[in-house]
Amino acid sequence: MAAIRLKNVHKTYPNNVLAVSSFNLDINEGEFLILVGPSGCGKSTILRLIAGLEELTDGMIYIGDQLVNDVVPKDRNIAMVFQNYALYPHMSVYQNMAFGLEMRKVPKTDIGDRVHEAADMLQIIDLLDRKPKELSGGQQQRVALGRAIVQKPAVFLFDEPLSNLDAKLRVQMRAQIKTLHALLKTTIVYVTHDQVEAMTMGDRIVIMHEGLIQQIGTPLEIYHQPRNRFVGEFIGSPPMNILPVTITTDPKPELRHPDFVLPLAQTSAWLESIGSRQVNLGIRPEDVTLADPHSADIHATWPVVLIESMGHESLVYLKLADGDFVAKVNDLPGSLKEGADIGVRFQLDRLHLFHWESGEVLAP
Ligand SMILES: Nc1ncnc2c1ncn2[C@@H]1O[C@H](COP(=O)(O)OP(=O)(O)OP(=O)(O)O)[C@@H](O)[C@H]1O
Ligand SMILES: [Mg+2]
Repeated sequence: MAAIRLKNVHKTYPNNVLAVSSFNLDINEGEFLILVGPSGCGKSTILRLIAGLEELTDGMIYIGDQLVNDVVPKDRNIAMVFQNYALYPHMSVYQNMAFGLEMRKVPKTDIGDRVHEAADMLQIIDLLDRKPKELSGGQQQRVALGRAIVQKPAVFLFDEPLSNLDAKLRVQMRAQIKTLHALLKTTIVYVTHDQVEAMTMGDRIVIMHEGLIQQIGTPLEIYHQPRNRFVGEFIGSPPMNILPVTITTDPKPELRHPDFVLPLAQTSAWLESIGSRQVNLGIRPEDVTLADPHSADIHATWPVVLIESMGHESLVYLKLADGDFVAKVNDLPGSLKEGADIGVRFQLDRLHLFHWESGEVLAP
């Protein structure tokens, strides 16, 4: 186990692509940390910098107390698992797992013990004599994990390790990696662009966009208190609805949209500092309820374009004059049908307000 610290890390590739900039992050010893963000935002670059596979353009990386800028990869005590786990095809499962240890001249009996211990943990004891091509995708992935575990590293780096697996296997492996972490308590940095993995696996999540950290927080902090519009829309499925509204204080504090008016509970000092202005209102699909258009306590009425029912919950797509809106609900009002109007009630303690230009959250 080791803590990892990235201080003011910059990476520009030789072709002048700025992959990450001003990256500051303290990863705790034993933490399960997730890096998430859209394709090309710099996630793999961060992992490769920690592993020493890429050189820093600027900044410092510490593993434990050691500054590792000039430490070669094999001396960093790190094991990495990639999306394409590339097992050696001509070697058995046992040999695949033992190979790295043999290279490091670990005594033979130790190697046997470590391989069996890891294989036992991953339930692949029966497969030790097989070749990779005789294994299913999930079994191959477990061998790749085993190959990392036997190294007993201070840090595991995972780069989208489950993205090649089908949905059901992904759920199983997700649970297995969580269980492994609970058992081994090794620091893990885990890259994904799957937000379900991000929300369910990590102690903390780092959301990245275009090489910059957008927010660092626990899954619930990120979900409930997104720091900007990007984070709000990135985490959550379907994404948060965004509607242009105007804040007014005259005659009373309100949010105005052509189709609705919402009361604002914010303090008058905050409102004064904000002033009347246009902002973006963010509201998650699960933070609204639908009701008969004639109900007294609805905020807006919009026509239904599409209903997708999944049994336990339904997605209801609505058409606005200047865009779309989606609601995720458990109970469907009797009057709900495609083509007809439905009433929408916003959960008023779940509104997010984002600055019109910068996208930063406007929090009191
Ligand atoms: N070896 C390289 N040479 C030049 N540019 C690179 C190199 N590797 C990555 N890049 C660029 O750096 C940026 C960040 O790439 P990186 O691989 O870190 O993204 P990522 O977040 O891992 O994306 P993905 O989710 O697609 O794997 C991208 O613009 C990419 O094109
Ligand atoms: Mg990548």
